[in-house]
Amino acid sequence: MNILAPSILSADFTKLGEQIQAVDKAGAQYIHIDVMDGLFVPVISYGMPVVKSIRKATKKVFDVHLMVMEPEIYIDAFAESGADILTFHLESLGDKKKLIAKTHEKGMKAGLALRPGTSLLELKPYLDIVDMILVMTVEPGFGGQSYIEASTEKIHYARRIIDATRRNIDLQVDGGINIENVGKVLEVGANVIVAGSAVFSGDIAANVAAFQKLMK
Ligand code: DX5
Ligand code: ZN
Repeated sequence: MNILAPSILSADFTKLGEQIQAVDKAGAQYIHIDVMDGLFVPVISYGMPVVKSIRKATKKVFDVHLMVMEPEIYIDAFAESGADILTFHLESLGDKKKLIAKTHEKGMKAGLALRPGTSLLELKPYLDIVDMILVMTVEPGFGGQSYIEASTEKIHYARRIIDATRRNIDLQVDGGINIENVGKVLEVGANVIVAGSAVFSGDIAANVAAFQKLMK
């Protein structure tokens, strides 16, 4: 199944609840929440209190993308705040097998993310336990950047790796995805589509509808 995950990093924070309800009502399945600690990436975004607060605005799946140096510190707190999926970066600190196991213990799905320069081969030790792979299609840190064209081949290769496992692993793409290029990433095997600026600039409901039409 193809899933749209609007990234609230591009939302208008003065009306965050309303904008989340708008993407919910328009039919987006996930809410993508980018957590940045100012160390793994230069930016600090938002954390547990915001997740807890917006949990009241929607029942949709909270897909938390942790761009933090030490994910382990936060697993319990994000579970308690209402996260459903927790994705950490391969390039962050800590034993990823332990992080995945702890995430599962807390009742959440676990994802592993790769920066554009990180090889898919690094995923190998985790392919029998991970629930989602996130191929970053821009350098993490900011919304509104342009899709890195070399990502298309990487997504395709990631899909082949996933299919070879015969496990039901989701393939998420994040960064610079819009109405023009979403068809291309779906074609090579992505099934969870993150979109920030392409959803939150202009008419949110119309943007979600346009994505959904192309994602059937
Ligand atoms: C970037 C974040 C993305 C970002 C995507 O570090 O992980 O989720 O919000 O924004 P767009 O879709 O505008 O590139
Ligand atoms: Zn993200």
